[in-house]
Amino acid sequence: MRQFDHQRPNPARMYDYMLGGKDNFAVDRQAIDQLAELIPEAVALARANRAFLQRAVRYVTRAGVCQFLDLGSGLPTQGSAHEVAPDARVVYVDHDPVVAAHATALLRHSCPDRAFFVHADLLDAADVLAQAVGFLDLNRPVGVLLVSILHFLPDSAGPSQAMAVLRERMAPGSFLVISHATTMGRLEDEERTTGMYRNVSAGGGTDRTPAEIRAFFGDFPLEPPGLVQATDWRPDRPKLVGDWSLPSSLMAGVGKKKNG
Ligand SMILES: C[S@@+](CC[C@H](N)C(=O)[O-])C[C@H]1O[C@@H](n2cnc3c(N)ncnc32)[C@H](O)[C@@H]1O
Repeated sequence: MRQFDHQRPNPARMYDYMLGGKDNFAVDRQAIDQLAELIPEAVALARANRAFLQRAVRYVTRAGVCQFLDLGSGLPTQGSAHEVAPDARVVYVDHDPVVAAHATALLRHSCPDRAFFVHADLLDAADVLAQAVGFLDLNRPVGVLLVSILHFLPDSAGPSQAMAVLRERMAPGSFLVISHATTMGRLEDEERTTGMYRNVSAGGGTDRTPAEIRAFFGDFPLEPPGLVQATDWRPDRPKLVGDWSLPSSLMAGVGKKKNG
């Protein structure tokens, strides 16, 4: 496993800093400060995304689901699924060895009975599911979260195939929660967004249209209001004057696997 490197910024720790967390180092904070100069809305985007995750987890919990699989989770801090759903079992999955070391230690200390970390590549969905069955009952409905992760995965890496495996294995009544950045073809935004991805991920980003994002849900019907701006997905407060309008749009939706 890679050594813990305090000198190099890490995407998950940078993300934690954007969310107001304390699981980051000076090098991560400097990287985000530089990013914010280039792309001032980066922090607002990260927070809008986390707020969507929390509303979606509450929604799924209210529907009676009490287990979650969070794929590409980053660090399980700052109001992650197990904090928002205190009665649920949660499995976090990330492929970053730095996240794996930190998250395993964090959860073992703070929530050893119902929140677990699996170090795996979500693109190998069969492996992820094989590891998750040690913690979750996949014969019962589960909330599967792919929040702000699919835009990091180019089509050539096979995210559609991984999603098909996941959808197939999810029990009827399960929910699929997705958020995905899109510029909807605005060229200037596309360049800015790609620059942002390059800053927070090793591999750059993949812009997709709303129709391409919808395809990740397969034949799962979308819960109202459908695939919309993340801030418009069942907001829990009215929009305020001065709320940041995000030029690089973040689409979000929740699908439910039908019975039978
Ligand atoms: C922007 S963070 C998203 C964090 C979280 N899902 C959220 O919305 O708050 C993206 C995370 O996905 C992880 N990741 C990227 N590609 C992955 C892959 N193929 N398998 C598992 N994790 C991956 C990265 O290591 C990073 O921690």
